[in-house]
Amino acid sequence: MDGDTTRRLLRDIDAYVAALYAPPDEALTAALRESERAGLPSINVSASEGRLLQMLVEISGARRVLEIGTLGGYSAIHFARALPEDGALISLELDERHAEVARRNVERAGLSERVQIRVGDARDALAGLVENGEGPFDLIFIDADKEGYPGYLDWSLRLSRPGTLILGDNTIRGGSVIDPDDPSSRAMREFNEKLAEDPRLSALIVPLIRDRIDGLAIARVMDV
Ligand code: SAH
Ligand code: DHB
Ligand code: MG
Repeated sequence: MDGDTTRRLLRDIDAYVAALYAPPDEALTAALRESERAGLPSINVSASEGRLLQMLVEISGARRVLEIGTLGGYSAIHFARALPEDGALISLELDERHAEVARRNVERAGLSERVQIRVGDARDALAGLVENGEGPFDLIFIDADKEGYPGYLDWSLRLSRPGTLILGDNTIRGGSVIDPDDPSSRAMREFNEKLAEDPRLSALIVPLIRDRIDGLAIARVMDV
């Protein structure tokens, strides 16, 4: 198959699965519309990946979730919907403008009580969470700047307990991670290798279809 045929097939398969299992609703559609209107980049998780994130919270029974990289709050809405009434999502975002859009989107979805968005460099916010004893979290989703992933994994482990799930978005990046000469994926390769080699973790990357093939790393903390 040529490249165009493959891309069309991936897009059609993704649309097929999303139409069946992750049909858009008013709050999600509005979140994407308002994010676009505010000029945010369309780099949110796909509808199906959002559904998977939601299911992982439900299956694991997570009550405290940490997200690194909020953007317009599209993934945050999925997490918050999966949480129990007294559950909490803390989401870290560098860009005040992104955070503002996300707060409005979360508010419109009726989830403000369960979601706290903290603005600033995630490195500082993570250090603050450790310092203030705000861990451990039940589930941590890493989805901010890709160069930061190896460091975010170290912080995540300090905010984990045995049983915590650590998730990493974009761990395949269209296959660029398997090209050792692609410098843009150096940090992601390092992250993937750290995840595989750390004896405290049991992990796998699940390949996902988006506009290109990407992947979600899923790691269970066995020991801290
Ligand atoms: N999880 C979102 C997508 C996040 S996109 C969703 O699926 O809906 C990545 C986000 O990380 C962007 O909003 C970007 O501003 C933010 N980001 C980049 N570097 C960061 C940093 N150092 N600290 C915190 N957030 C950062
Ligand atoms: C990019 C970032 C993401 O988090 C994502 O899911 C897709 C693309 C990017 O920076 O290009
Ligand atoms: Mg991502």
